[in-house]
Amino acid sequence: MDLGLKGSHAFVAGASSGLGLAVARELALEGCRVTVCSRDAARIGAAVERLRSLDSVAHADVQGVVCDVTDEDAIREAVARSVEAYGPMHVLVTNAGGPPTGQVDDFSGPDWEAAIRLNLLGTIHLVRHALPHLRAAAAGQDGFGRVIMISSISAKQPIATLYLSNVARAGVQGFAKSLSEELGPTGITVNTVLPGYTRTDRLRHLSDSLHERTGRSVEDIEAGWAAGSALKRIGTESEFAAAVAFLASRRASYITGTALPIDGGAIKSLL
Ligand SMILES: NC(=O)c1ccc[n+]([C@@H]2O[C@H](COP(=O)([O-])OP(=O)(O)OC[C@H]3O[C@@H](n4cnc5c(N)ncnc54)[C@H](OP(=O)(O)O)[C@@H]3O)[C@@H](O)[C@H]2O)c1
Repeated sequence: MDLGLKGSHAFVAGASSGLGLAVARELALEGCRVTVCSRDAARIGAAVERLRSLDSVAHADVQGVVCDVTDEDAIREAVARSVEAYGPMHVLVTNAGGPPTGQVDDFSGPDWEAAIRLNLLGTIHLVRHALPHLRAAAAGQDGFGRVIMISSISAKQPIATLYLSNVARAGVQGFAKSLSEELGPTGITVNTVLPGYTRTDRLRHLSDSLHERTGRSVEDIEAGWAAGSALKRIGTESEFAAAVAFLASRRASYITGTALPIDGGAIKSLL
């Protein structure tokens, strides 16, 4: 299937490693011109080099910018640099790291505010600053626009030790659904993707922190996560990225307002 992405402009946030980098890789392989961002110049530089080393990817078609998505000014600047390099923006993928684990008494006021800034406001501000450029891409001849927000299965099925994530992701869902309604007439689709347990640095961080909290071995914790999915295994970054690339594509033109779990069947609800 030709996803029709060749020559399109994609911006992927939180993309020096993990799910964001895997998505950027998939989009670059589909022929997108991609801007990736993260907080760390060395890490985003290394990610850009990895993407540029892909056989079919031209050097000029990937750039990295340093941007902490909790800093609105940095977002404004990063989006401007992306548009300067690649023109109207067809695809925006919002992403960042995940918040710490804990129970309700473990978190201070500033902890809650930091999580909301990272996972909810970061998403909102990325969209706000990209929106004029997404509208421009959608309005062009043969144009299209896609917003994809990387969230978590905790948006549909809260996870016991992930209070901060559970709360922030619920807000992302409210924002995404509202936005999908407003942008529908422009042809810009808006969807969230909900990773289940997927092999990245973040997953290792989660299992280490549960190990410290409970004394269970990391292997036992991860086996429990795998057993909780219908497919009985942890997912891979490339499985996640393939689904996101489809949603980003021209072929996904009648899908909007959805929250797509990419979780091997970990969520147990009917819908
Ligand atoms: N992996 C899973 O199993 C899983 C499951 C459910 C939900 N999720 C969620 O999916 C998202 C991505 O997960 P992941 O596993 O890929 O995480 P990861 O391996 O920790 O990668 C996070 C990426 O985001 C960047 N980042 C972190 N904070 C940032 C900030 N403030 N501004 C800009 N970039 C930032 C990091 O780069 P720098 O350090 O270079 O800034 C890194 O590139 C997270 O929100 C996570 O909670 C993951």
